[in-house]
Amino acid sequence: MSSLSAAYAAHLDTLQQRSAEALARAGRDHLLIASGVEKYHFLDDRPYPFQANPHFKHWLPLLHHPHSWLAITPGARPRLVYFQPDDYWHLPPEAPSGYWAEHFDIRIIRDPAEARALLPDPARAVILGEADAALDGVVPDNPDAVLQYLHFHRGYKTPYEVMLMRQASDRAVLGHRAAEAAFRTGASELEIHRAYLEATGHNDLDLPYGNIVGLNEHGAVLHYQYQSPQRPETARSFLIDAGANHAGYAADITRSYARDAGRFADLVQAVDGVQRALCDQVRDGVDYAAIHLDAHHRLAGVLQHSGIVRMAPEAMVEQGVSSVFFPHGVGHLIGLQVHDVAGFQATPEGGSIDKPAGHPFLRLTRTLAPGMAVTIEPGIYFIPMLLDRLRSGAHAAKVDWGLVDELLPFGGLRIEDDVVCTGGVPENLTRDAFARLN
Ligand code: GLY
Ligand code: MN
Ligand code: MN
Repeated sequence: MSSLSAAYAAHLDTLQQRSAEALARAGRDHLLIASGVEKYHFLDDRPYPFQANPHFKHWLPLLHHPHSWLAITPGARPRLVYFQPDDYWHLPPEAPSGYWAEHFDIRIIRDPAEARALLPDPARAVILGEADAALDGVVPDNPDAVLQYLHFHRGYKTPYEVMLMRQASDRAVLGHRAAEAAFRTGASELEIHRAYLEATGHNDLDLPYGNIVGLNEHGAVLHYQYQSPQRPETARSFLIDAGANHAGYAADITRSYARDAGRFADLVQAVDGVQRALCDQVRDGVDYAAIHLDAHHRLAGVLQHSGIVRMAPEAMVEQGVSSVFFPHGVGHLIGLQVHDVAGFQATPEGGSIDKPAGHPFLRLTRTLAPGMAVTIEPGIYFIPMLLDRLRSGAHAAKVDWGLVDELLPFGGLRIEDDVVCTGGVPENLTRDAFARLN
């Protein structure tokens, strides 16, 4: 048995235990999970890209399988109702095979409605899925207590899940290397994006989120959504936030580059040092919100040291000045979804852990424990809209506006790694993947 197969068997045991506990809490006997359905554009016959229910792909590495179902009954072999239509317009899913298949009682259906007869009594079941997945008498109810329990525990990855995330990271860094090389030859954003796809072997729909490929000022647009086909006259700086997908698990990686040595290159280097120190804090028992606040203090130190803001770091953080240059959270849970669920959840029963006051964009406030996979993504940006407010506010005189104006054409920078909390030294999936590439 390969190590992946063995890890998968252990992963299924964990999911079985979690399901049994969730069902006991709900007083039901079966867990039904719909993979999902294809949805169509308004007044059109073209479907949107299919996205599998994350609860479904938690059990199986099947991403392109609408109208399939899982039926889990504690103590029994899980049943997979596998939709494989007779369709000559599209390529149907292949016959089920792979390291996962032997663990399921697999029933093939040719028509979505055939699933109904192969599922256990829906009155005794919890049914997870989108409303559109409903069959006659099988209507997703998504009970809150069950979702809370499963989502809370999804924060703790099994060793199998971490194996898949390592592979997603390996794939993404191939793209990052190619993207940097394309930037250095003066390529357009679109050309860089294509180089990324080529190197990863992904198409746009395979990506776990739309690539952010920003040259120059576009690096200051946090979720810049276009890829310009125009080569800029001068490509001074480059920010790329791009991931990859492996068996339904995401990588989420950002790198930033300067063409030439100088102030912006120095900032990239300084933030890289900050980012490494923050990654080292991804340890058992650490409050993630504390890492976010420490990021503010350290980035404020960079702003002070570089002469951009003449304030002590503590004052910069307290007065909200650091948030002008770092206006997002330091990271989030990652896994089946790039922004994975339950970032604020207090207990398996629910409840919410507040964000620190003044930090509305933080997405994770839980205490870290082994198995949690998070991103660490500090940055410094020169965002005209936020700088205009600072320019007209109480702290304007503390800012070296000449330096800011010099840096505005470089946009901004962010450095983002995916890091797994362990019982000891954190596992940096991203830096390890770059190291494997060398
Ligand atoms: N790629 C989106 C993010 O970093 O959260
Ligand atoms: Mn991220
Ligand atoms: Mn990202």
